[in-house]
Amino acid sequence: MTSPVVELEGVCFCRKERQILADISWTIEAGAHWALLGPNGSGKTSLLKILTGYAWPTFGSVRVLGERFGATDVPRLRKVIGWVSSAMTQRLPAQDAAIDVVASGLDASIGLYRHISDEERDKSTAMLEKLGGASIAGQKYGTLSQGEMQKVLIARALVCEPKLLILDEPCIGLDPAARQHFLNDMAVLAEADHAPTMIFVTHHIEEIDPWIRNVLLLKDGRILATGDPDEVITTRRMNELLDSPCTVFRQGAEFLLRMDG
Ligand SMILES: Nc1ncnc2c1ncn2[C@@H]1O[C@H](COP(=O)(O)OP(=O)(O)OP(=O)(O)O)[C@@H](O)[C@H]1O
Ligand SMILES: [Mg+2]
Repeated sequence: MTSPVVELEGVCFCRKERQILADISWTIEAGAHWALLGPNGSGKTSLLKILTGYAWPTFGSVRVLGERFGATDVPRLRKVIGWVSSAMTQRLPAQDAAIDVVASGLDASIGLYRHISDEERDKSTAMLEKLGGASIAGQKYGTLSQGEMQKVLIARALVCEPKLLILDEPCIGLDPAARQHFLNDMAVLAEADHAPTMIFVTHHIEEIDPWIRNVLLLKDGRILATGDPDEVITTRRMNELLDSPCTVFRQGAEFLLRMDG
């Protein structure tokens, strides 16, 4: 039996006497894609940092791909975790060619610190091409548009053939067509052989496509609900999550949210 991709037990995260995450227990089975929803400051990014070993819980245990943090080589493990986040867009080296930024995903490093082989370069190029970014391969990363940067980030996350892919508000800054393209790409990826298990963080319930069969609602650092989107994304729950009057509608498989305040 394969071990779960993520197992958090009783995770608490405190900073400056403030509890940012409280008693989080969450298991992600291989191939079960999750959406993570919660208002600003609810702890989503902190939770992702804990999953990737960039932050350590104050209490509780973290296992990723069967390996327990504290007893494993986290930098090695990170090489099979892809992470796309708009926060990262600014941290990558502006002077590097887009293709080198993609290749840095092979080492899970910010910047490329070694010579890459022809094979690795070809793999990086192929990944960028697959996402429709062939023409920007040689362009300096810092001169790319936001949508182009996002393509580079996604290619960077996928080039290492991750087992876990974390998408932290990946659609920020994308125009409506680019966003739809991106969501379609993710739907195709989710169905592919050896697809990574994905965690998709968003503020927009309309981005939760049918390939995402699990949702976790996070409020004030605590789990408010987990389960099937059809059961969790309801008017009652969203009112509770956002502390604001709102209504959830369905349009076919799509969720829509109207703020009523
Ligand atoms: N190292 C830290 N020290 C102090 N406070 C922190 C630290 N890290 C996070 N916080 C606080 O914890 C809360 C949760 O932050 P986090 O970035 O996880 O929220 P989020 O759910 O990702 O929000 P957003 O939707 O705005 O991205 C915030 O109030 C933030 O200021
Ligand atoms: Mg965040």
